[in-house]
Amino acid sequence: MAEVVGGVASSHIPAVGVAIDRGRKAEPYWAPYFAKLPPMQEWVRELVPDAAVVVYNDHASAFSLQLIPTFAIGTAVEFPIADEGFGRRPVPAVQGHPELAWHLAESLILDEFDITIVNEMEVDHGLTVPMSLMFAEPAEWPCPVVPLCVNVVQYPPPTGNRCFNLGKAIRRAIDSYPGAERVLVVGTGGMSHQLQGERAGLVNEAWDHRFLDLLVGEPEQAAAIGHVEYLREAGSEGIELVMWLVMRGALDAEVREVYRATHVPTSNTHNGVLVLENSGGGPFP
Ligand code: DHB
Ligand code: FE
Repeated sequence: MAEVVGGVASSHIPAVGVAIDRGRKAEPYWAPYFAKLPPMQEWVRELVPDAAVVVYNDHASAFSLQLIPTFAIGTAVEFPIADEGFGRRPVPAVQGHPELAWHLAESLILDEFDITIVNEMEVDHGLTVPMSLMFAEPAEWPCPVVPLCVNVVQYPPPTGNRCFNLGKAIRRAIDSYPGAERVLVVGTGGMSHQLQGERAGLVNEAWDHRFLDLLVGEPEQAAAIGHVEYLREAGSEGIELVMWLVMRGALDAEVREVYRATHVPTSNTHNGVLVLENSGGGPFP
């Protein structure tokens, strides 16, 4: 049977992708942030996952206000890189895992997590920037990916608790997949940021660290955080953190925190990465 072998969460800041793609990582503004990534990259390199489920949000690249799936799963063989207005990122197209994706779709839907099935989809910075952070700059990505989108762009997004429970359902699906895949689960987005309005530029490091502590050690409490608290404390785009709860729900009830790093400033966001390993004690009930 397939197995969840770990979890990674990371912010997905477009400007970080630009810094990578244009060879600016060593510039004074970026170097202190990129210096924090090697422990995560080494952990991922040693893990050698066979597949990754990447939970992210589309930023009006594949979807638009015409069509707003709360949850969507990509079942394609390949996902082209989206042009978000300044050309496609020069990174490899993302290879899918249709068999695992269809198994996930079936298992989730029969588990009463109705999810939109997407057979053709371009992927944006929400997915590709964390891929670059985890896997550096390879000619081909080292493993196939099942993209799983969560609507956090148009109100009403799903609650943190719903996302946490989706993670648990993803775990049940992977545990019942009749392949030998060792699967990495990734959640992207966050941490605190607000890109528009009077509070544009808001960052709340203290609140973000409390969120991380709860996510790791008391995930039910993290899952109970409501939309108003995200908005007030983490800014209008802080709601992206609900995708970290999907990742957490797919891991064991008890986890080991392998690595955590956060950084300010990088663009408008409190930029964070988190690496978790299962304790071996088993999934959430
Ligand atoms: C930024 C962060 C995001 O999560 C995003 O989707 C777009 C921009 C930023 O900090 O610039
Ligand atoms: Fe975003």
